[in-house]
Amino acid sequence: MNPEHTQHQLAILGATPSFPEPLHVGRPNLGDRETMLRRVNEIFDRRWFTNDGPLVKEFEARIQQLVGVKHCVAMCNATIALEIAIRALELRGEVIVPAYTFIATAHALQWQEITPVFADMDPATHNIAPETIERLITPRTTGIIGVHVWGRPCNTEAIEAIAAKHQLKVMYDAAHAFGCSHRGRMVGSFGSCEVFSFHATKFINCFEGGAVVTNDDALAAKLRLMRNFGFAGVDKVIYPGTNGKLTEVCAAMGITSLEVMEEIIVANRRNYEAYCEGLKSLPGIALKEYAAGERRNYQYIVVEVDETKSPLNRDELVAVLQAENVLARKYFWPGCHRMEPYKSFFPNAHLLLPQTEKLAAQIMVLPTGQSVGAEDVGKVCGLIHTALSQSAVVRAALSKQD
Ligand SMILES: Cc1ncc(COP(=O)(O)O)c(C=O)c1O
Repeated sequence: MNPEHTQHQLAILGATPSFPEPLHVGRPNLGDRETMLRRVNEIFDRRWFTNDGPLVKEFEARIQQLVGVKHCVAMCNATIALEIAIRALELRGEVIVPAYTFIATAHALQWQEITPVFADMDPATHNIAPETIERLITPRTTGIIGVHVWGRPCNTEAIEAIAAKHQLKVMYDAAHAFGCSHRGRMVGSFGSCEVFSFHATKFINCFEGGAVVTNDDALAAKLRLMRNFGFAGVDKVIYPGTNGKLTEVCAAMGITSLEVMEEIIVANRRNYEAYCEGLKSLPGIALKEYAAGERRNYQYIVVEVDETKSPLNRDELVAVLQAENVLARKYFWPGCHRMEPYKSFFPNAHLLLPQTEKLAAQIMVLPTGQSVGAEDVGKVCGLIHTALSQSAVVRAALSKQD
């Protein structure tokens, strides 16, 4: 172990936390404050707060250009955007999704009484394993939703080949993958449509926000209707719709975030490289690497803790870090299939999901983003080194807490 990383007194052993203020995963990135406040003032002057205002239109146009798609339909969040996209594609019956994702992917189906059928993950990418999809297809299956977990694109070629063979529709939950590319093509143009999240914790944020992007003109028109109660003009409703609109103030936040997108990537990449350096060659600790040669937002620092090789397991390391005010997270523990209502619907689902089961118990996500400096990263890595080198006393202290 690197001796420079063994200096820390651990809070779990009675010292004061290394970070006086919590270091959060997903602490919001900010655009320029003055520019944002100017935009808010302009919104007040216009008194146009929502309903397809000028800033929503500008936000959509910027995303279309950045992603290289014909249509961006901005929404109030990605969960509603997923629900509307699923409905617009007329999915029903059963839809295959990865078990290893944020619960919103599954709930967006269940909310409309479509059964999410959970596929296992590929341990190399953490994305849906295409070879596990085909055996889940039944006469009730209508589609596949791939999730680009951590901004690493799914194997879209394999997924789309299976879908074509079985005449299924494909869409993607790209909540993590804004600003990322796949084989040189920006995420956003795969499948029938893709959904981005602009939640406060995401790489680019609108406070709350989301969008569906697509190259399909008819689908985009339907999404716009559905987002706005089905209104096709004043007093004219032609479709069952809901309220999925993005507000002007949220669009202002999104535009202001987009203006500093490259700066955020620089900060995230610097932190990612510092974590790679700081955690290298620790037994049982593997930082998930971002492939070179593609565009990435570097928003997630994902560490696999293999308890057969590491002196402490994932849960123990998370407990040590949290005691230091480093609020590491166990995403997406314990997997959608182990949460309700899915756990009750499919009590034996875990038997078909060995990789999800294994990795959900090993993955730890560490803080990064604009508000985390290189010095913070060095300190977090130092804490991990110290904890691992004092694993016996750490474990004893943790067992006293139980
Ligand atoms: C993979 C994934 N899908 C969907 C969502 C839901 O996004 P939102 O919070 O914008 O509704 C999230 C949010 O964290 C997510 O991580």
